Amino acid sequence: MKKSPVTLVLLLLLSITANPQDPAGPPPPGRPQAQGKTDILIHTGTKSTDLIYRVSSRDNRLYQVYLGPKLSDAGPLSGPGTDAHPAYATFGTDNLFEPAIRATHNDGNPSLELQYAGSEEVKVTPDITLTSITLKDPQYPFSVILKTRTYSGEDVIEQWAEISHQEKKPVTIFDYASSMLNFDASKYWLTQFHGDWAEEMKMQESELTAGIKILDSKLGTRAHMYQTPVFMLSLNEKSTETEGEVLAGTLGWSGNFRFLFEIDEKGSLRVISGINPFASEYSLEPGRIFTTPPMIFTFSSAGKGQASRNLHSWAEKYGILDGTGPRYTLLNNWEATGFNFDEKKLSGILEETRKLGLDLFLLDDGWFANKYPRNNDRAGLGDWQENKAKLPDGIAFLVKEADRNGAKFGIWIEPEMVNPKSELYEAHPDWVLKLPNRPENYYRNQLVLDLTNPKVQDFVYNVVDGILTSNPGLAFFKWDCNRMMTNTYSPYLKDKQSHVYIDYVNGLYSVLDRIRQKYPHLPIMLCSGGGGRTDYGALRYFTEFWPSDNTDPVERIYIQWGYSYFFPSVTVCNHVTSWGRQSLKFRVDVAMMGKLGFDIKTDEMSEGELKFCQAAIADYKRLSDVIWKGGLYRLISPYEENRAALMYVDEAKSKALLFSYTINSRFGETFGKVRLQGLDPSRTYKIHEINIFNEGRRGMMFPRMSENGKSYSGDYLMKEGINAGSASPLTSAVYELTAE
Ligand code: DGJ
Repeated sequence: MKKSPVTLVLLLLLSITANPQDPAGPPPPGRPQAQGKTDILIHTGTKSTDLIYRVSSRDNRLYQVYLGPKLSDAGPLSGPGTDAHPAYATFGTDNLFEPAIRATHNDGNPSLELQYAGSEEVKVTPDITLTSITLKDPQYPFSVILKTRTYSGEDVIEQWAEISHQEKKPVTIFDYASSMLNFDASKYWLTQFHGDWAEEMKMQESELTAGIKILDSKLGTRAHMYQTPVFMLSLNEKSTETEGEVLAGTLGWSGNFRFLFEIDEKGSLRVISGINPFASEYSLEPGRIFTTPPMIFTFSSAGKGQASRNLHSWAEKYGILDGTGPRYTLLNNWEATGFNFDEKKLSGILEETRKLGLDLFLLDDGWFANKYPRNNDRAGLGDWQENKAKLPDGIAFLVKEADRNGAKFGIWIEPEMVNPKSELYEAHPDWVLKLPNRPENYYRNQLVLDLTNPKVQDFVYNVVDGILTSNPGLAFFKWDCNRMMTNTYSPYLKDKQSHVYIDYVNGLYSVLDRIRQKYPHLPIMLCSGGGGRTDYGALRYFTEFWPSDNTDPVERIYIQWGYSYFFPSVTVCNHVTSWGRQSLKFRVDVAMMGKLGFDIKTDEMSEGELKFCQAAIADYKRLSDVIWKGGLYRLISPYEENRAALMYVDEAKSKALLFSYTINSRFGETFGKVRLQGLDPSRTYKIHEINIFNEGRRGMMFPRMSENGKSYSGDYLMKEGINAGSASPLTSAVYELTAE
């Protein structure tokens, strides 16, 4: 994570508390007990959360003594009887559980002992504080700096580690966690989010039991596809949307990740988060710093809803590129045309973009390559020149056409990949990740370029820079990544093959850093064959992401619901397509809960459908600030009922939007009122139903039940609620609430 500029530097005194007896038990064997020293408490935290460490005078090690709601008096934590757990457990001396770090020194000694060597607190901005705690091995010149960056107003904490040494030869590190957090609760409930292509973010909650549970991925080019690098952990009881203690965490890393949950014999839980160390021992040269990616987390004492809102407001301000900036509504051609288009067809679609009132046309896959034209996914990937048969006048012509239609123009790229049937592969077979002595292993007929190689990094940078330089008006990219690594071997890394997963991601970040230096604000959608790259490591370079290729609106309710726990709606691109048999209204209502786009054959629309879409897009533009920046309240979960409802409320509590969907209904089933949240109880809100589509009435709520035109106090809306859905399956309603 990029460091924010230090605007205000303030070294604060650490609070020092005398503690003659250490609660962690007798000193480790062979280690003398320090005489006459005092323990040191190191406080970090946000406006509602404290994370407190203690340096023990007995063994000079760092312990975590508290993580939870803000304490008015942390004094007792320095005394005996406190639960103290290693802050960053090592391997090889006396730790019997999973370590945060494991290293073999240059002389072959496989043990690591880390002791406190100092700490520093820097006030980066009034909101952000950075605490650095240095730990050193007393026998070897090996150190770890544990970094904790707190975002007070957002209640979000980031942790990472900087590992380095000055030994004579390289040191191998086998484990290198970003963060290790400890909990003492009666029970632990883990919510994980898993899936596959077109079924991303399926939510599952289970109780953790003694021993180890791991959530991880080994896909190389992307963090997620099967498991997503996110989790929620509820303490004692299962938390709800509004109640319970819950930690929501996510790793800012676009490659292999691992969250390890271990409950020990005493019922304490340690959560170790970071890059997946699987097959990735790293040989660290003297003087080099190995910086782990940030583990980003928030602690909520008011359930999962608050945890999500904390992450959303952090992400908008700090986690994503231009999080509070504008976004383009767009028309994409992938679902409508696939690879089958030409200049004439695209000119027609550009006119439709304008007719609908959308901001931008996004030309998807299939526009490039000549020797091996990209007419399907079997050829051309890597050859980033316009295909002369399809686009004789090039992208520049389309940019101008878009401009003539009052729209912007954007384009799809997948610069990290190559089809074997391409000029790029012919020219540079050594630029590809593939095992010697084994047949090539394809996924979507393509291979991964070796981004550990600086020449390949230059190539990828030049693809982007070249397209932008020759087409100055180009306003948007969709950056795709359609496969994971298999048969992984880097010709560039030679005898350091276990570096490949880490160096690939760092190679990608170095390309993205260069792109962002030259094009700091160009909006780019992150895509990975559906939602495979949805992590805050990548999102600092991207304005939005494609959450799934599955655009069936019923499926999307669940998928978008899952993402909403960790990512603000401004990042989640939702397109209205022809997937599913639901009405156009239902599809538009679902797609509006995020960054709205269309990918549909507009020339097949009736006059009424076109008018409906035009009005919906105009309303969306009028209200998108509430959806993108408002607080999200998940009201009725599709995992618990045959319906779903959620709402967004702006900061001033003067405007809110309620989205409600009836997914299914059993014979005779009725639905109760929906109680709203987040409003001002003392104000009166007028309800205006938007997205009303009278044609054929499909997907509409039964009109008698609509609350359109009525006014209620915030107090009534939150305590009694309103009708927001009918019992007819696949109907929906969107209410705009305005404080009078
Ligand atoms: C996978 C993406 O998820 C789709 O949206 C589309 O861009 C295709 N790739 C194009 O190949």
